Amino acid sequence: MSIIEGLCKRRGFIYRSSEIYGGLNGFFDYGPLGVELKNNIKQAWWNDFVHGRDDIVGLDASIIMHPNVWRASGHVAGFSDPMVDCKESKLRFRADQIYFAEVKVDGHTIGYVSVLEDEGMQAEAEKKAHELKRKKGAQGELEPVVLKNYMEAKPGEYDLIPSPATGNTGTLTPPRDFNLMFQTYVGAMRDETAIAYLRPETAQGIFVDFKNICDTSRVKVPFGIAQIGKAFRNEITPRNFIFRSREFEQMEIEYFISPEADWKKLHREWIDACKKWFVSIGLPECELAEDVHPKEKLAHYAKACTDITFHFPHGLQELQGIAVRGDFDLTQHQNASNKNLEYFDENLKRKYLPHVIEPSLGVDRTFLAVMTAAYTEDEVPNDKGQPEKRVVLKFSPRIAPLKAAVFPLVKNKPEIFEKAKSIYERLRRRWNVFFDASGAIGRRYRRQDEIGTPFGITVDFQTLEDGTVTLRDRDTTQQVRMSVEELIWHLTDKIDGKI
Ligand code: GLY
Repeated sequence: MSIIEGLCKRRGFIYRSSEIYGGLNGFFDYGPLGVELKNNIKQAWWNDFVHGRDDIVGLDASIIMHPNVWRASGHVAGFSDPMVDCKESKLRFRADQIYFAEVKVDGHTIGYVSVLEDEGMQAEAEKKAHELKRKKGAQGELEPVVLKNYMEAKPGEYDLIPSPATGNTGTLTPPRDFNLMFQTYVGAMRDETAIAYLRPETAQGIFVDFKNICDTSRVKVPFGIAQIGKAFRNEITPRNFIFRSREFEQMEIEYFISPEADWKKLHREWIDACKKWFVSIGLPECELAEDVHPKEKLAHYAKACTDITFHFPHGLQELQGIAVRGDFDLTQHQNASNKNLEYFDENLKRKYLPHVIEPSLGVDRTFLAVMTAAYTEDEVPNDKGQPEKRVVLKFSPRIAPLKAAVFPLVKNKPEIFEKAKSIYERLRRRWNVFFDASGAIGRRYRRQDEIGTPFGITVDFQTLEDGTVTLRDRDTTQQVRMSVEELIWHLTDKIDGKI
């Protein structure tokens, strides 16, 4: 992860928020290249799932909604994570991210060790157990270290489990529920009646506007409402770069189906469609997997849920959740608002509250997945034909922040410079392209490789004779000559796809 984080900072993709003030944990800023990549991901999603389908319409609901929305949805009462405080270090942990083990030597307990959830936590716990044995001078055989989650600790064990922050015992509290919604006040009053929340998911805006959309658009069940927007969660331990942050962006669809529809079949179709979309933006199929939630781990609203997971630098983790929410949300809002939210089905000639399938995706996680998949270190020949290590981001042309860079081979030949400038001006009317005239041509290619620009267009002496340019492919570094017209056809095909 640190390699990706370093590259993101160095090349202007992502900075820590408020960095000159020491940063703010769990918040990030997207720099000049980051915002382009992020916008391209969102645009690709919107094009494919909204413009590209007849059965999905868009919405952009407000971030702050009536507080009763969150009471009805269950978020005020139940949108919480169990937290644990370390009274000594004043650090706060998510209880389900602390693991502990009883350390036994020849059947006798000599103490406890604790670790934070991590791929290497078993090895770390074993190391700590060996240290404890040595410190206590215990003779005999160390029994296998069996890690348990802090949520499974018995009340009598809380005082015996050392804090992951200090290693000292007697400082951890029992787990307590911590609501993840950010609170604010609307208007001039600062009392209970003025409390509002920053939305923790975009989904509720869709449910609350369901009736408006049915009444004002020509939608018919089955249909979906899609929304891209910011959501906020006061995570206890934001971590893994932009994977779990406190302010993030979601791309969510609520796909409304009749209560009689075969939801298992539709759920499967959505999982397949979403996987296909990930592949279309450059995530290798072999890096994707599925994780079916067991019944006891389902969110309060879900009947079923399958995550599409991805091999992130910190392990195989959730990229997208595809939940079956039944009619939970519409029922809740109908009861709480006292407004009839039923849909009249002209085919069935009756009213009902539709059920939903919810593909819910984080833009920032998709960004991290795209970065992870694109990051490549390889060797290519330099200007002298000798192999040279390079870092290259192999973004799919469709979502690459810059589509092409135009280079005059030399700077001091005005005809070459002007010709390159005119090609650049022509291309920039359609795509985000870059003009670079400074430095050796090999260095200029390398700079674009590192930020993932798929095409390099070089104007040289031959261009002045026959009008052709060279087109360099970022991944193969192969160059082919072609006319400017052919170049535009080629770029259109690779960037925008065949019409
Ligand atoms: N709407 C589901 C989620 O935000 O996780």
